[in-house]
Amino acid sequence: MQIHDKFFVPFLSEDQILAAVKKVADNIAEDFKNETPIFVGVLNGSFMFVSDFLKAYQHPCEVTFVKMSSYEGLTSTGIVETLLDVSENIEGKSVIILEDIIDSGRTLKHLIHMFSNINVKEFKVASLFYKSEVYRGEYPIDYFGIDIPDKFIVGYGLDYNELGRNFREVYQLKQPDMINLVLFGKPGAGKGTQAEFLKEKYNLKHISTGDVFRYNIKNNTDLGLLAKSYIDNGDLVPDEVTIKMLQEEVTKNVAASGFIFDGFPRTTVQAEALDAFLMTKNMKINATIALEANDEVLIQRLLERGKLSGRSDDQDEDKIRNRFDEYNQKTAPLKNYYQEQGKFHSVDGIGAIDDVTARLAKVIETL
Ligand code: IMP
Ligand code: MG
Repeated sequence: MQIHDKFFVPFLSEDQILAAVKKVADNIAEDFKNETPIFVGVLNGSFMFVSDFLKAYQHPCEVTFVKMSSYEGLTSTGIVETLLDVSENIEGKSVIILEDIIDSGRTLKHLIHMFSNINVKEFKVASLFYKSEVYRGEYPIDYFGIDIPDKFIVGYGLDYNELGRNFREVYQLKQPDMINLVLFGKPGAGKGTQAEFLKEKYNLKHISTGDVFRYNIKNNTDLGLLAKSYIDNGDLVPDEVTIKMLQEEVTKNVAASGFIFDGFPRTTVQAEALDAFLMTKNMKINATIALEANDEVLIQRLLERGKLSGRSDDQDEDKIRNRFDEYNQKTAPLKNYYQEQGKFHSVDGIGAIDDVTARLAKVIETL
């Protein structure tokens, strides 16, 4: 469901909400049924909660409202304004605040301050929803309905820029899906260059398998030492060691909006291992993009690069052709693997860097 520019998914049903309201009412009744407390609803968000709460609280009580505002869009502005002050004479009464939601606790702090110079009998706070993970206040919440994770919600009085208050259920902001890409291309096709642009543009983490290997070996990590033991014996590093290194990279970068895998997978077996690992993280490859370029163009590029960098494998045309052959042999089956899943895309890698980036972006934006 869309509200303004954002998408929301169902989070709590009407029944779940009403059960939570009843729980709060029952808990408060246990403590206050023998007196006449005054409930203070915090507008606007709490109007539905207060209404259902009072239907569930069938004991003597009074009710009034205050109005505050601190939210702009999805985040608290930090500035809490009092728009409607306590009007009733509440001196000497037991005051119970009814909040729809407690998030950072700034609004609550302001409320507590508001009541601090009034001589009340007792002061309690009840909130239907409570984001305990992000609550920064010192005041312990006396009663709450449901402890919810730190995700923006709408419905049942709560709004996103004033819309959504009238929903009977509560919806949660849908996190934008991750974009996980595999970048293919022969040596010289521009994978590294394009990965730099894509990672900026889409907040992705670029995982270059070569870099990850060099990092682990250079820093003598457990996996680096293990990999080195194979290399020193002239053996290929087993896939599971490589996969473990990649797993660590993914786990270290959980906040990324996605990953660009570069240099891995190189075989179908590796692609299967990568899929299996991503599945355990609730992730998947969204697209595999091959940067295509004519061999003769690439050879010229690599020879140029070899002159500048001094990399010996970039200076010998035969060696370059061998690397191309290897790519052709191994990537062909991989292409089928991803094509069967409808994830394979091919992009012309010849032209100005900007133009190639634009072609890649066009593919990514269809995902
Ligand atoms: P706090 O001051 O950060 O505790 O935020 C409290 C106020 O922010 C609430 O009374 C709501 O108006 C608003 N708010 C906090 N979290 C959400 C949410 O997830 N959805 C909608 N409004 C929210
Ligand atoms: Mg609000």
